[in-house]
Amino acid sequence: MLENYRVLNVVLQENGLELFVQGEVAYFNYFWLRDNCETSWESSTKERTFDILGEPDDLSPQSAHIEGGFLEVSWSEDKQSRYALQWLMRWHQGENHGDLAVRSRKPWHGNHYANMARFDYTEVMGAPNRVADWAEVLLDEGIALIQGMPNSDHALQSLCEQFGAVRPSFSGYVFDVFSKAQPENLAYTSKALELHTDLPAEELAPGIQFLHCRVNDAQGGQSLFVDANAVANALQKNHPEYFRILTEYEVPFRYTTNHQDVRSKQRIIELDPNNGEVSGVNFSQHLADIFDFPQRDMDRFYPAFRKFGQMLQDPSYLMTFRLNAGECIVFDNQRIAHGRTSYIEGSGVRHLRGCYVERGELRSTYRVLRAQHPVATDPVAWPQMDDSALAEVGLGG
Ligand SMILES: [Fe+2]
Repeated sequence: MLENYRVLNVVLQENGLELFVQGEVAYFNYFWLRDNCETSWESSTKERTFDILGEPDDLSPQSAHIEGGFLEVSWSEDKQSRYALQWLMRWHQGENHGDLAVRSRKPWHGNHYANMARFDYTEVMGAPNRVADWAEVLLDEGIALIQGMPNSDHALQSLCEQFGAVRPSFSGYVFDVFSKAQPENLAYTSKALELHTDLPAEELAPGIQFLHCRVNDAQGGQSLFVDANAVANALQKNHPEYFRILTEYEVPFRYTTNHQDVRSKQRIIELDPNNGEVSGVNFSQHLADIFDFPQRDMDRFYPAFRKFGQMLQDPSYLMTFRLNAGECIVFDNQRIAHGRTSYIEGSGVRHLRGCYVERGELRSTYRVLRAQHPVATDPVAWPQMDDSALAEVGLGG
């Protein structure tokens, strides 16, 4: 409640002001305050139209004081700003806007198959609250199974569009995984596929991957999935130096065909700037380029790389199951490493159709749908910075 904030004093300093609030000092920079006056935003687009670049280098208010539950700042005779203390304290305490999509990940291990979240295709196609549930599982666990998929091209696209537009890769909008006579990629053979994340050679590796099993009556071809988040956490605990190395080195990846030469550098383990958790991995031995660090650094890098790769293959982390026709496995390609065992060529048909949606689209959809369909256990959803939110928190200008 606004009246709960007892501000004893406001002190203007050279670059910002201090509020003495309930026994602590909350500091706010003048440029930040001026930039975030309510009038900085255009009301219909919710985009900032105020230009902080036009303010003087020595921007400072003429005066500032507390009035009720608000900090009132006078920049000049004709410009005043008003900020709700409740709103200011959120930023001071690091709560900021709040973000429903920043959630603690739930690492899982090789026995996850029985507990893996399952959703019915018709259910998620017709119920936004179930799409929110599905998105939440993908944020938390990184993987979910959709069952009851029609055997059609359109079904996969429709499913993806629950989150957003299909994101093309250098394979196009969709890709079909089956044995080809002249494969340009190991996936298009009946051979085993080592654990990997898809396409780290692209500057931004694909986010959410959908693999729709259209037909699977071949012998073999078990699907393999590993929560690299769980493995990376274990690496951090047991081999912190290896973990640090894999979060720091920029590793080259490359994919070439007769008409493509796609290259990028990625970190093997990526960290979430929101909460410091492991947010993803880039791991693909078949797309790893020749490592180009100084040779002395190879002495440190290879042991870390090999240990992490060996841990990914550890049966305790490896979930193995058969993907059946009519199922679509949906997973975070930047968190979940996947592969398959070999299958017997000619024993039957194995056809998966796949595509991708960006992780950002998943998060955006989740924020919107979960706000519309909250569940009792949700943390408080701080409103976005829009007109209604500004009115609610009392930010005035
Ligand atoms: Fe793959």
